[in-house]
Amino acid sequence: MTVSDKDLIEAAAAIQSQAYCEYSGYHVGAALLDEHGRMHVGCNVENSAYPLGSCAEAGAIAAMIASGGRTISVIAIVGGDEDNSPCTPCGGCRQRIHEFADEHTRILVIDDSKEWKTYSIAELLPASFHLP
Ligand code: THU
Repeated sequence: MTVSDKDLIEAAAAIQSQAYCEYSGYHVGAALLDEHGRMHVGCNVENSAYPLGSCAEAGAIAAMIASGGRTISVIAIVGGDEDNSPCTPCGGCRQRIHEFADEHTRILVIDDSKEWKTYSIAELLPASFHLP
């Protein structure tokens, strides 16, 4: 079964409701497809010791890795309230995505005009760090 971008966006929006965001109140959901076409989802999980909170993208990537996936083919990220304000990945998550992205990886987020926009990891994280 092929998963469309719309399916992926809907899955990201659905998992948003599972977010544990007691401190920010900001719900984030992420859904990604790996190189096998399998979907993995994650939501943000906050903690009363604030720095221990984790982002939705981190959860989806951890699920992908645990099930054997190694490359993100496409990832959709949905954040905020019902009208879904733009939620581009934070700096740390850009690096997390970069680790498992290639030049074909598509990152789907809502822009300031409330339109879905597709980015590459090179656009979101130019001059990125990688070990020599
Ligand atoms: N958050 C994410 O889950 N992903 C991002 O890329 C940006 C921020 C979460 C972290 C925190 O739980 C909440 O959004 C507010 O920053």
